[in-house]
Amino acid sequence: PPLTSLINIGDFEKVAEKCLSAAGWAYYSSGAEGEISLDDTRRIFNKISLRPRIMRNVESISTSINILGHTSSLPLYISPTGLGRYAHKEAETILSSVAGDEGIIYMMPTSPSQSHDAIFSARISKDQPLFFQLYSSRDRSKAKALVQKVESLGASAIFVTVDSPVLGRRERDDRVKVAAGEQATQAGVAKSSATGLLNPTLIWEDLKWLKGVTRLPIVLKGVQTVEDAILAHRHGVQGIVLSNHGGRSLDTAQAPMLTLLEIRKYAPYLLSPTIRQGFQVFIDGGIRRGTDIIKALALGASAVGVGRPFLYSLTAEYGKAGARRLVQMLRTELETSMALIGAVEVTDLAPEMVNSERAESE
Ligand code: FNR
Repeated sequence: PPLTSLINIGDFEKVAEKCLSAAGWAYYSSGAEGEISLDDTRRIFNKISLRPRIMRNVESISTSINILGHTSSLPLYISPTGLGRYAHKEAETILSSVAGDEGIIYMMPTSPSQSHDAIFSARISKDQPLFFQLYSSRDRSKAKALVQKVESLGASAIFVTVDSPVLGRRERDDRVKVAAGEQATQAGVAKSSATGLLNPTLIWEDLKWLKGVTRLPIVLKGVQTVEDAILAHRHGVQGIVLSNHGGRSLDTAQAPMLTLLEIRKYAPYLLSPTIRQGFQVFIDGGIRRGTDIIKALALGASAVGVGRPFLYSLTAEYGKAGARRLVQMLRTELETSMALIGAVEVTDLAPEMVNSERAESE
């Protein structure tokens, strides 16, 4: 369908389901095991209601914010996803340049379909910030070489993924493999994660080593409890991403928005303006609407990550135009919803604008 006929993010998802190969659709859209976390992560936004304030002169809205010292035109960044080539053969270089065009930040994965050099070269200027997602190899010399390489290429921050010491079991992927006459990965999970990208031996003490090999800010991606949020802060990292890997790691792990509510309740200091200057709390998983962004920010998140929708937006040969339309949709939804809730700046979004009683009591 023509791009102009797509009205919201859900429309991109429908197109992607039709256009992607069975393997591509299963890889992108699936969650772990029974997909309970996948569903919960999305559904919780519908259980949180907004409390709009009226008569506040909302004629001019500004959606721009600061992420780790960089200006972003929207309070969102593009989350890292592997195997972009199912969606488009130039997935990562497109996302890199679209981020530049739209004034937002792209976080490239450790394992893109294109080279890291190509993704950095695709920036619209040398000043365009890019974040790097790190699977920190158990082989420290390898991990060090990778971090120093992306630092020299111009990365602005290292996001260490900490929610996947081993691979979550995605059964839809396995079904596609079995249908194609291949072996399901289940039996080989422990082995493949040990020999591949993932590092089951990663521990808190490793952060000291990581800080010693890079000058870049370090953020932990995949914090899932208030306890670990507190530990992360104590270990002196520059931020955390509340994330359950888009429901792909541990099934029935709580929705990241519940983790944010936990932090509000038990460690609200982590969201205070003073702490925020050196420690930012991000969140990803299931963000599909401008109102989702508003809920996360009102409850204290500094910015949100958006993953799957960017993959979907590249399908059907939409490529760059698709990804730009997606950003435009989110921008329009966010601006409209900010006006309707009575916020002209992102910093006007406050906890009182959200009623999370239903989400908390269930
Ligand atoms: C991911 N995610 C991910 N995260 C990461 O740190 N390294 C990676 O290589 C990948 N790969 C990946 C592939 C695919 C297909 C998906 C869908 C996700 C997780 C990703 O960064 C992010 O946490 C979630 O995707 C956010 O949820 P939504 O926006 O997809 O609902």
